Amino acid sequence: MIPFGASKRICSSSPQQAAKLGRAVTASFLRQPHTVGLGYLAAVEAAAIAHNHRPSSSTRSFSTTSAKQLRDIFPEKDTPFIRKTPPAWPHPGYTEEEMLAVTPEHRAPRTVGDWVAWKLVRLARWATDLATGVGRDQQVDMKNPTTAVVAHKPLTEAQWLVRVIFLESIAGVPGMVGGMVRHLHSLRRLKRDNGWIETLLEDSYNERMHLLVFTKMAEPGWFMKTMILGAQGVFFNAMFLSYLLSPKITHRFVGYLEEEAVHTYTRLLKEIENGDLPKWSNPDFQIPEIAVTYWRMPEGKRTMKDLILYVRADEAVHRGINHTLSNLNQVEDPNPFVSEYKIGSEQQKPRAALKGTGYERDEVIG
Ligand SMILES: [Fe+2]
Ligand SMILES: [Fe+2]
Repeated sequence: MIPFGASKRICSSSPQQAAKLGRAVTASFLRQPHTVGLGYLAAVEAAAIAHNHRPSSSTRSFSTTSAKQLRDIFPEKDTPFIRKTPPAWPHPGYTEEEMLAVTPEHRAPRTVGDWVAWKLVRLARWATDLATGVGRDQQVDMKNPTTAVVAHKPLTEAQWLVRVIFLESIAGVPGMVGGMVRHLHSLRRLKRDNGWIETLLEDSYNERMHLLVFTKMAEPGWFMKTMILGAQGVFFNAMFLSYLLSPKITHRFVGYLEEEAVHTYTRLLKEIENGDLPKWSNPDFQIPEIAVTYWRMPEGKRTMKDLILYVRADEAVHRGINHTLSNLNQVEDPNPFVSEYKIGSEQQKPRAALKGTGYERDEVIG
């Protein structure tokens, strides 16, 4: 197994491997001149890890960053005393059966709050499709936007990377905001939280790991970084206000957002399986070592498809957790996902990934 932080060394000591990674996305960029006008695909510097693979001078480079600045954007920090910093929240892992059993699901809105949350997520999906240059022929059946995964034309690897890097940079915000607000509430009101804070913070940590994995495949250029900065400024404050006003609706909103995430990764898996994304369908494609370490991916199960199976299962967990939390009493109820159940009631303990539409309150609290 390649040690943690190895992609830096791949770049510096094995140009062939670095080029393999970079070509996976660079070639797609060069095939997509019609999308450049949107400016968004220019935002990811797909060649960031391919030092020896540059577009010819006759080919327009879509990078917004000088080639001289290409680098591993978070190289392993070498210090005199510290050998390794393991994750504070080790990943619990999944069986292959659990990962393969994940499917796109949709919880139909039942209340006005649900409906508002659902429509806001529809708006966010529309804006993301527009910004990432998704053509009509690349869209799924929009009558079933979170469950239909078939489209006439696949997205390109570059479109996928822009999409997932932007979305993952947003996805890590709500859990941190929810955890922070509940933490402050507990301090201020001198009350117990009953286990919500840790789960919310762990979810946001997990989302950040997704982002770090994808940014090992492509470094965002200045345009994308600006978009991420602006989006975080708006989204953090919107989530903060929203969580103060109605944590119930906010958890529903995140549940719908996670439905989108499961949908996105299911479609990506399908396109990899179909061979629509030749670089990522190639079993020799080298995934980032940080992913292998975080999910403890076994030997022989380290393809891009395996990686996306892990990420999708995480999103399914977030989906189940947030839909369930939205169904609970926000002030009084304990977090059922970390609670110990009374003898004889153990079967009521929820398993988030197994129920995409979330558990009803009477199923898990009684
Ligand atoms: Fe994620
Ligand atoms: Fe998620």
